[in-house]
Amino acid sequence: MYLTKEEEKILDGEQGEVTERLFRLLVRLGEIYGADKMIPVGSVQVAGVSYKSIGDPGTEFLEDMASKNTKVKVLTYLNPAGMDLENWKNLGFPKDFAKNQLRIMSAFKKMGIVATSTCTPYLAGNLPRFREHIAWSESSAVSFSNSVIGARTNREGGPSALAAAICGRTANYGLHLWEKRQPSVKVKVDYDLDFNSDFGALGYFVGKQVKNKIPYFTGIKDANTDQLKALGAAMAASGAVALYHIEGLTPEADSVEKKHLETISVGKKEIKETYDKLNSGKDPDIVILGCPHASLREISQLAEKVNGKKLKKPVWICTSRMIKEAAERMGYDEIITKAGGSIVADTCMVVSPIEQMGYKTTGVNSGKAANYLPGFCKQNVVFANIDDLVEGQT
Ligand code: F3S
Repeated sequence: MYLTKEEEKILDGEQGEVTERLFRLLVRLGEIYGADKMIPVGSVQVAGVSYKSIGDPGTEFLEDMASKNTKVKVLTYLNPAGMDLENWKNLGFPKDFAKNQLRIMSAFKKMGIVATSTCTPYLAGNLPRFREHIAWSESSAVSFSNSVIGARTNREGGPSALAAAICGRTANYGLHLWEKRQPSVKVKVDYDLDFNSDFGALGYFVGKQVKNKIPYFTGIKDANTDQLKALGAAMAASGAVALYHIEGLTPEADSVEKKHLETISVGKKEIKETYDKLNSGKDPDIVILGCPHASLREISQLAEKVNGKKLKKPVWICTSRMIKEAAERMGYDEIITKAGGSIVADTCMVVSPIEQMGYKTTGVNSGKAANYLPGFCKQNVVFANIDDLVEGQT
């Protein structure tokens, strides 16, 4: 692989031992995947933030790196943490868990990483441009940035993203290359998608069918960015899909090659069967919306639905700290809290320890969350649209 003089000097240890070690990791990955060179990245998103996912070994590793004065070179955000970093006590997060989570955040902060934890960095101040090379980790954020924005990233693992942040580079392979962004399957949608959960169901179904391929959708007449993030998140969860194109909607759809693709069709029957398949419970103990992290529009929709009502069971909506602050300013937070719900920042239903908090059945409108909650959090799942979930609680 071609390396510049500056990059060779990194390998000679000119920027310190930690940077050298991490750069070696990136070069090795590049060699494995046949990269021709290293490329600068505009931003990074690091996963492996929740204490639930990384435990003591991960925490100690991060503290060790931070203690060596390691600093990131580019704008770097974090994936959701295991709890709301400010309101964890009121929400009932365990104290020991909180202590460890705060240690992790402080190590990241020391490295110059923006201590905001979200899977929708593009809604919270980290917005890449079309064709910008980035190194992001969380699967729904990777899908959104590749597909809806047209930025370019592979799905990085926790260590490779951290390495990219500290070295400011990644290897030029996979979805960084135009020829690897071409669709390999056409998906004909013959159903009027309405709720975000319909997009989640479609994504879950298609992900299972196409596994790792790049789908090119036709028949989706319209979709807002909330619906596109729901679609991509579910496809990433069920089929590791990191990029999709939609005719007439996503930025690369007109220019990719779509002749001679095998075609699969999705209609009412497949969407309904997916709803049935993702439902494993009844009567949720808690409803958690905001997977991927909610936009201000989604929070305002919830506020409108619960305004002046009293919820029978807790309803959370997960989001980033920035969007929560905007929601507070708009008075949505007050409306939701008065009804008995909560806007929960920095975390989500999958990476927080909800099973330790006594919840057994969770209601969600996200295909991704419905996919992960049984395995990761031992939950029965009620997968439905926001109206059914929230009206069932008022
Ligand atoms: Fe985000 Fe958690 Fe869903 S990381 S995409 S809210 S599972």
